[in-house]
Amino acid sequence: MSVPQTHTGRVAVITGAGRGIGQALALGLAARGATVVAVDLHHPDETMSLLGEAGHTGLGLVADVSDPVQTAAVGDRIAREFGHADILVNNAGIFPFVDIDDLDYETWRRVLAVNLDSQFLMVKAVLPAMKAGRWGRIINLTSNSILSNASGISHYMASKMGNIGFSRGLANDLAPFGITVNAVGPTLTVTPGVREVHPPEALVAFAQAQAIKRNGLPEDLVGTVAFLSSDDASFVTGQTLMADGGYAR
Ligand SMILES: NC(=O)c1ccc[n+]([C@@H]2O[C@H](COP(=O)([O-])OP(=O)(O)OC[C@H]3O[C@@H](n4cnc5c(N)ncnc54)[C@H](O)[C@@H]3O)[C@@H](O)[C@H]2O)c1
Repeated sequence: MSVPQTHTGRVAVITGAGRGIGQALALGLAARGATVVAVDLHHPDETMSLLGEAGHTGLGLVADVSDPVQTAAVGDRIAREFGHADILVNNAGIFPFVDIDDLDYETWRRVLAVNLDSQFLMVKAVLPAMKAGRWGRIINLTSNSILSNASGISHYMASKMGNIGFSRGLANDLAPFGITVNAVGPTLTVTPGVREVHPPEALVAFAQAQAIKRNGLPEDLVGTVAFLSSDDASFVTGQTLMADGGYAR
């Protein structure tokens, strides 16, 4: 079955695109016709090769998205290279598990910086190129874990709740420019990052709390992000869509 070319002519900037959910989103939006800018802390070699193998062109950039100097450089490069930026998916994130007794200020700050500051910084970096086209789609990754009873992630929950607040407020600011802003919340999704922090038995238990009793896969997020970043979603803004298999809260 051919994939509908809903994203032809769009430049889609995706952070944390080197692996996991970000990589699946890069491939999924490219398959719909977007030119992908894959931004990651490490060079997104694998993502760029997979894009190339599928016959897509794109740009891979190395940047720490929690750093204002590096994000500004990313914005400048995109403006120079393409002249416009249409879609921004703020996906980069980290999720160290630390109970409050062991949670130090450095870890707290790093999680807030990578998960929340980065979304603000990337918006600031690409907004001039997005406003110029008077059309834009910003999608900020949050998480369904914000409403869970999991321990050891208070810092993560704070950042992911922040993603929702930022999205709602930003939607109000950017509506006059034809730019929508929404948040997407995955359930526990089997990615390299998740495999580093969760033993396999924890993955099974998590799926039992969902109506759909299997773990999420990175590809499960593609349809939701494709819709929200398409013309079809032009009247949807300020929303949080939990694409989480019907997780019980
Ligand atoms: N996987 C899940 O279960 C799950 C569930 C809910 C929400 N999420 C959210 O989805 C997003 C992606 O998660 P994932 O599981 O794919 O993670 P992952 O660890 O598998 O991949 C994250 C990618 O982000 C990059 N990255 C990390 N810090 C960065 C930085 N400072 N600058 C640039 N790039 C950076 C990493 O290099 C990596 O390539 C995160 O925001 C996460 O909070 C994930």
